[in-house]
Amino acid sequence: MKEQSYSVSIVGMGYVGLCTAATFASRGIKTIGIDIDEDRIGQIQRGKAPLREPQLNQILSRVVKRKLLKATTDISNATDTDASFLTVGTPSQPDGSIDLSYIKKATESLGQALRNRRRYHLLVVKSTVIPGTTSKTVRPVLEQSSGKTIGPGLGLCANPEFLKEGTAINDALHPDKIVIGSNDKKSANELTRLYRRFYGSKLPPVIVTNPETAELVKYASNAFLATKVSYINTIANIAQHIPGVDVNQIAEAIGHDPRIGPLFLKAGPGYGGSCFHKDLQALVSYSQQQGYDPHLLKATEKTNEEQADKVVELSERLAGPLEQKRIAILGLAFKKDTDDIREASSIRVIDRLRKKGATLVGYDPMAMPNFERVFGNTIELAKNSHDALKGAECAIVMTEWDEFRRLKAKEYIAQMRNPAIVDARRIYNPVEFRELKFAGIGFGP
Ligand code: UGA
Repeated sequence: MKEQSYSVSIVGMGYVGLCTAATFASRGIKTIGIDIDEDRIGQIQRGKAPLREPQLNQILSRVVKRKLLKATTDISNATDTDASFLTVGTPSQPDGSIDLSYIKKATESLGQALRNRRRYHLLVVKSTVIPGTTSKTVRPVLEQSSGKTIGPGLGLCANPEFLKEGTAINDALHPDKIVIGSNDKKSANELTRLYRRFYGSKLPPVIVTNPETAELVKYASNAFLATKVSYINTIANIAQHIPGVDVNQIAEAIGHDPRIGPLFLKAGPGYGGSCFHKDLQALVSYSQQQGYDPHLLKATEKTNEEQADKVVELSERLAGPLEQKRIAILGLAFKKDTDDIREASSIRVIDRLRKKGATLVGYDPMAMPNFERVFGNTIELAKNSHDALKGAECAIVMTEWDEFRRLKAKEYIAQMRNPAIVDARRIYNPVEFRELKFAGIGFGP
């Protein structure tokens, strides 16, 4: 590996791939971003991010201008680089199991492009894949399509990512660990050297394992986080029956125990986003195929699905039967500071409220275009939160946006026909909302 002119290619310019490419390039590593979507590549070539992520646009315009990041639809350009990272999607199939078709296709194209290349090349599987994928799927496809075998001339590693939407750039620049799974020492050493070059003296702990362990680390991490959320939501649902009990105080108290920790203990309407549900489904399905039924993980998912019912129950508690009642949904995104609505709890709640015959009006500072694209005009969308509240008989805070946090009781009272708030994210101090009907997840009646 030549230290001076090290270069990488990233195949799949989705959210993980693009953030990874931008941060590699920002550290002076020549990077080629590859995707089959011409529009996406066109935008990246102009230094514009095709998705919303804080800091991404600034970094992208800088690295494109300095020619540290190039973007192309031609995967054969990957052969000009020292290492290729696979960051293509691994969606769910209808039965919950993982769809590896993008992984196979990208590996095959890359292998074909590598056929006539003499220099060492390292393939790094960064996409979330079930244990065994790197060794049993990627490896044979790569070896067959390239006509080479893994060894002195060709390397292969699994290297999962742990980026969070909204803080992906910071997470990529300051990870808490790097996990490298490989069956040959040379591959692991090459990738460690690349990361040493990237992070210098701030290299985080590097955990080197076999590929299957690295692959399972990613699922173990997301499944644990999702279970932590379902756990605190379970406690919230119990607390909700006890007058004067507040799950936030319980979370604060148990969070002081270092074995539990304070993070990821915010009770709410259930987790969303493109990863937790998909990864839990894939892990459950994989585990069942191996002959083990993972009850805990299934309970995590079931609890999450049912959390939407809890939100609806609270709305009924405040507003009575919901048929023909006008309900304001404040927040559509799966968490704040993103326009992403994938698997958002708002969708599950909206679905239940519609079945009960409620008339819905939604507002979100960022996610409305995405919502409209997927759900058309199934619900009315308002220009701002005040408009959404106008004439409503119940307001449900579904996303913890700062602008909702700033809303005062008097603003709700001024706009609503029947001022009643369901704080599904627990962003308000109930004492400040005493003048109107108020209910919160995990907050006793
Ligand atoms: C998650 C993981 O946190 C990342 O480590 C992982 O890399 C990523 O999935 C992935 O696999 O790509 P992300 O989906 O961006 O990241 O979102 P999170 O910030 O983890 O939040 C997930 C959901 O849990 C959100 O709907 C959030 O509102 C909810 N949540 C989170 C709670 O309800 N309570 C909490 O205390 C924390």
